[in-house]
Amino acid sequence: MRRAARRIALGAYGILACSRVIAGEESIHLVDAPGRDLTASACVTCHSLDYIPMNAPVMSRGMWEKTIHKMIDKFGAPIRPEDVEQILAYLTAHYSR
Ligand code: HEC
Repeated sequence: MRRAARRIALGAYGILACSRVIAGEESIHLVDAPGRDLTASACVTCHSLDYIPMNAPVMSRGMWEKTIHKMIDKFGAPIRPEDVEQILAYLTAHYSR
């Protein structure tokens, strides 16, 4: 009986820790500008948003465009075609050389 209660408590802690990441910690890494929320929600599903600033020094608009299409075509990112331009504009403006 006691052991079961402890397992439930641990489970709840896990959920809390997770939703904290989704709610804010990850998205505050990105520059606050139009397109940020769309970009963050499109990219954080699979990996850390750190991938964006980490790659920024070597990226150009063309390379971001390729990367976004790679995420969609190869990895199945659920990004709507009409959102690609806005994400691309945001990444180019704030995270390219
Ligand atoms: C469906 C899952 C998925 C989504 C959504 C996704 N990615 Fe990725 N991404 C991956 C995988 C898988 C890799 C390669 C493996 C790894 O390094 O984790 C990757 C790698 C990357 C890399 C490293 C360089 C490279 O080309 O491999 C960058 C930069 C990147 N993603 C940017 C983005 C951006 C920007 C978005 C949002 C527009 C995004 N990703 C959305 C799955 C995804």
